[in-house]
Amino acid sequence: MRTSQPQTIYLSDYRVPAYLVDTVDLRFELFEDGARVHSTLELRRNPESDEASAPLELDGDSLTLESVALDGIELVASDYEDRGDQLVIRTVPDQFRLTVVTWIEPQNNTRLEGLYKSSGMFCTQCEAEGFRCITFFPDRPDIMARFRTRIEASKAAYPILLSNGNDVEKGELENGRHFVTWEDPFPKPCYLFALVAGDLVERRDSFTTCSGRHIDLRMYVEPRNAEKCDHAMDSLKRSMRWDEEVYGREYDLDIFMIVAVDDFNMGAMENKGLNIFNSSCVLASQETATDLAFQRIEAIVAHEYFHNWSGNRVTCRDWFQLSLKEGFTVFRDSQFSADMGSPTVKRIEDVTLLRTAQFAEDGGPMAHPVRPASYMEISNFYTLTIYEKGAEVVRMIHTLLGPEMFRKGSDLYFQRHDGQAVTTDDFVRAMEDASGRDLRQFRLWYEQAGTPVLTVSDEFDAGKGIYRLTIEQSIPATPGQSNKKPQHIPFALGLLGQDGQPLPLQLEDRAPEAPAERVLELTEAVHTFEFHGLESSPVPSLLRHFSAPVRVRYPWTREQLLFLMSHDPDGFNRWDAGQRLAVDVIQSLVGAADDAEVEPRLVEAYRKLVTDAQLDQALVAKMLQLPSEAYLIELAEDADVPAIHRARETVMQSLARALKDELKACYQRNLETGPYEVTPETIARRSLRNTALAWLLMINDPEGRALAESQLNDADNMTDRMGALRALVNSDFEEDRRQALDQFYGGFRDDPQVVEQWFSVQAASDRAGQLADIRKLLEHPAFDWKNPNKIRSVVGAFAGQNLSAFHNPDGSGYDFLADQVCRLDDTNPQIAARLVTPLTRWRKFAPVYSGQMESALERIRDKDGLSRDVYEVVHKSLA
Ligand code: PHE
Ligand code: ZN
Repeated sequence: MRTSQPQTIYLSDYRVPAYLVDTVDLRFELFEDGARVHSTLELRRNPESDEASAPLELDGDSLTLESVALDGIELVASDYEDRGDQLVIRTVPDQFRLTVVTWIEPQNNTRLEGLYKSSGMFCTQCEAEGFRCITFFPDRPDIMARFRTRIEASKAAYPILLSNGNDVEKGELENGRHFVTWEDPFPKPCYLFALVAGDLVERRDSFTTCSGRHIDLRMYVEPRNAEKCDHAMDSLKRSMRWDEEVYGREYDLDIFMIVAVDDFNMGAMENKGLNIFNSSCVLASQETATDLAFQRIEAIVAHEYFHNWSGNRVTCRDWFQLSLKEGFTVFRDSQFSADMGSPTVKRIEDVTLLRTAQFAEDGGPMAHPVRPASYMEISNFYTLTIYEKGAEVVRMIHTLLGPEMFRKGSDLYFQRHDGQAVTTDDFVRAMEDASGRDLRQFRLWYEQAGTPVLTVSDEFDAGKGIYRLTIEQSIPATPGQSNKKPQHIPFALGLLGQDGQPLPLQLEDRAPEAPAERVLELTEAVHTFEFHGLESSPVPSLLRHFSAPVRVRYPWTREQLLFLMSHDPDGFNRWDAGQRLAVDVIQSLVGAADDAEVEPRLVEAYRKLVTDAQLDQALVAKMLQLPSEAYLIELAEDADVPAIHRARETVMQSLARALKDELKACYQRNLETGPYEVTPETIARRSLRNTALAWLLMINDPEGRALAESQLNDADNMTDRMGALRALVNSDFEEDRRQALDQFYGGFRDDPQVVEQWFSVQAASDRAGQLADIRKLLEHPAFDWKNPNKIRSVVGAFAGQNLSAFHNPDGSGYDFLADQVCRLDDTNPQIAARLVTPLTRWRKFAPVYSGQMESALERIRDKDGLSRDVYEVVHKSLA
């Protein structure tokens, strides 16, 4: 734990490493009371370093050093300095072999960084800086070495021993122990190292690559999960094929392995040839996983697989470049998901996350550029900005270059930088070189934080038939950055005639074939575009497909929004018009009486959606979802959460009351006809059906209640079961709620992934998740403070989704969260720092709330021995 004030690390201080590591030879002796790690490194001075006489400095964390030897000669204490977080050897030759033996205690590792135990198995997590918790090593991604790993353990307890690459040797040892040796032919940074040892079952499959190579695909899971692997395995094969077809990327090793572990700080990890997953992000069966989980698993399996090229073969020079691999890989997995399902729906989901959570981050105290210039703790920078905004930045390059040039650019990038550790700038340069486009101004997307605001105004000159559109951009100040330069923004646009038909976009150029959609390129603070040859004032369809991660301000009338909702040929903008209309209606009701009238045109628009069976049902299912409380808060200033919550409920209940019969018909129309399948059509049916159910229960409709009860009992899949449970939990039928929860728990108590869903459906509900209920959940036998998923499903769901309960004006929600953060800070600082997030936004809220949120942050700040992770978040929030 921290002893002095954490230091800030700056990108501008980057220096090439003074020493390079060519090979790493590891031997792990795994025991119940600890593990001994023998590490032999072949090192040499880096010819590119100007620090000719630099001492050798190796990183370490929580290690007990047993011995050090240089070229086979044991060093004595005066030859080196063990500073705890660094092992320093003053004088070393130009080229040498270093052998270090350390002792570690995986069984006591609650931080889940480095080597630790999860339900009896050993596993590792090394990104970003976990390898230093295993042995002393220059723990930075621009050191790429070839690894050979020998694992020794009890054969009965740990029959499966895995590491990166190919297994080259195995055998028996004394005392019932055995060993396996793995060799990874590809040089890699140590953050991609992985080891797993456990009593696991193996599921096998295979894949033949485009060049005819045979790849062994293996999944390793605990025996009770043996039947939950098919979906991930199928997703893996689809990902492998897709990456060949769309990016020309072939898999490179002979084996690809996936392991599921229950205790994991994040979703999954792309270790070379040995991806390790949080169980909740990989295991699925019809009975235990919802449609959402199925889709998430497919996306995450793809994401980790795609990292093999975008991340592993070409990696990051330093952690400031994190978005190089994450932004690009998220972009790749979103393209993949779009191709596997409905592109419009996928875009809606991505934009919803971006606008709700990334925009909030970008407008808060932790705002940072896609390529940050400084950090204290890198674990805090696995953010929505690095991942989602980073993906949007790559998407904009794709939009500006077009798919063919983009592919040429990515080919050049992979070819030019294969085996290297590079920067986001190298990525952009490859795109420029392949396409001939100048992306100098575009690079500001990597350097400037904050969400650009586009203020759009228009006028129609009836005499000349000219429609004039003026777009002004401004980028708000963010911590450490004011006075920003205009950015290069692709702005996709269409115009609709009064009859709802798309109009040709005739700019000054008077092109003979005017297109119905254009991507305007904004580069100045203000641009005016003139569209010629129009008979009447058009309705603009702005920022189609969400072509840039920006906020658009335009004085839409409700008529225009209703018009776009039913006429815009861009499905995304149809949905967006509906959202804007609903936001407008809800906002106008904030603070109004509970029986205030809800805009009748909104009700009619929703009636049309619920009854129209001709429209794309996947899109309808999305359009029926009202904007979330979190999004409404993000849009508000001085947010009063309970008031927003009530206004939203008023709208939802009045929609439900007005459309009761239509909702019942919609429910019946979408009843399951065939066997359970995960396709866009069947997902849409289930979503529509469960939305109808949820709304009926919002108004405590007795028929809805009966439908929910029978659906809960009869469902053959978790989507419907969970839909019914959630509807009941959020109703006022208290008796039914209790009974449904008990019955559900009784049926699934042995399945941790389902129990997590059971926790979060309660913790996220304003009916079942008041603070007293949350405290009870923490006492529940299935709750476990060592398991991040359980913490997220109770504490995270409460503070992140049950917003009216969390923002109780008495401040109890904030105090509660502060207590949990302090408690976790000692055991798992990464998770503790993430849990703080809802409090960091304190300045957004009305004074009753913000003052108490600030005090809660101060209380955390004053805790003794605060971790670097939480220190950074709390201090930046209070600054
Ligand atoms: N690199 C992982 C991913 O995005 C995320 C991760 C980061 C996992 C740090 C563990 C620790 O795919
Ligand atoms: Zn990733």
